Amino acid sequence: MKELDIEFVRSQFPAFSSDKLSNKAFFENAGGSFMCKQVIERFDRYFKERKVQPYGFYESSILAGEEMDSARTRMAEYLNVNTEEVLFGPSTSQNTYVLAQSFLEKFESGDEIIVSDQEHEANAGSWHRMLNKGIKVIVWKIDPNTGSLDINDLKNLITEKTKFIAVTHCSNIVGEINDIKIISDIAHKNGSLLIVDGVSYCPHGLPDVNELGADIYFFSAYKTYGPHQGVMVIRENAKKALTNQSHFFNSNYSDKFMVPAGPDHAQVAACNGILDYFDEIFEHHFSSGEMLFGGNKPKNVAKLFRDQEIKLLKPILDYFRNNNKCRLIGPGDNVSRAPTVAFVPKNKSPSNVASDLNGYNIMAGAGDFYAVRPLKALGIDPEEGVVRLSFVHYTSEDEVTKLINSLDKVL
Ligand SMILES: Cc1ncc(COP(=O)(O)O)c(C=O)c1O
Repeated sequence: MKELDIEFVRSQFPAFSSDKLSNKAFFENAGGSFMCKQVIERFDRYFKERKVQPYGFYESSILAGEEMDSARTRMAEYLNVNTEEVLFGPSTSQNTYVLAQSFLEKFESGDEIIVSDQEHEANAGSWHRMLNKGIKVIVWKIDPNTGSLDINDLKNLITEKTKFIAVTHCSNIVGEINDIKIISDIAHKNGSLLIVDGVSYCPHGLPDVNELGADIYFFSAYKTYGPHQGVMVIRENAKKALTNQSHFFNSNYSDKFMVPAGPDHAQVAACNGILDYFDEIFEHHFSSGEMLFGGNKPKNVAKLFRDQEIKLLKPILDYFRNNNKCRLIGPGDNVSRAPTVAFVPKNKSPSNVASDLNGYNIMAGAGDFYAVRPLKALGIDPEEGVVRLSFVHYTSEDEVTKLINSLDKVL
């Protein structure tokens, strides 16, 4: 079985060769990952050579437009959807806000939506506000001890009036990977759409959105090695429920109708860099020999990432299992969760733990992480919040060891 070549991986991220960061271990990736060099190079070229009105008549303008288009086409290929189903918007929070305005134009008073309580506010607030317009907002509650969502609860909540279910692929606090395929089957059997927040999932490998069955799927490129840009998939069938939110003359443009802000040209173009990076990972590891999934590039890259993360997550979870000074949030097994590990220290405030970890050159975060609803449901004071340690495939074994040693001292 192929293993991730961690040295090759780290050579793709300039942050790892920066003097400023050389002795620091980065465990706040769920807040925003390091940027791969391919994205930085794309930005550099765009700003130097192509920062003009795109889609015009002269070379730099034509190249700028082509670069934006190729980001969209290639992203669609990676996510296994059609190009016309991919949109770039300023951020996930902005994208869901616009989606909510759009849905409301066709919804009727008494229509129902189901919103999970495991959500970052980006996949909750805009939907909860629909209550003000006469929409019944039903909360799919998490287990107050484990933070998990129960599929049987969803089956009891869904009715023929349910217009959509909004749920995260992976919570930025609980860390558990939800079974989106099962949820989409339930949604579709009942005539509902499924909206999925993939922000905390995608850094661990882009999913096959077609296979998952999500009707709307979004993530934030800045947490997936790229620029500060929201990426959104709206499947053809879901478009019927939506109305144009852009200028009236943009209603027939599949890349524009849900983006009133207009495109950020350089950021869209630079999203190519994420896919350049994934392509290079694929070439480096699979140019010869063993391949799974019939040679499917995104799936092989995602598996390399996940296998590495699962391996490195184990000692961290073992540490928490053998320690009674903290409440670990989410599953204790390394396979069913992403390496986004939140915990509540029993004898110290979360912010003190994070700042003490900084004293040991561990970059970690503390707070509510905009996940106020799940924290409240878990009985955690959002003012205090949690400590969150989050890593991705580029994190090294040494860094994990350093983290565990530092935790021991700090806690
Ligand atoms: C799970 C999750 N969803 C949504 C968001 C919001 O993304 P954006 O910053 O692009 O609005 C975040 C950001 O932290 C997140 O972690």
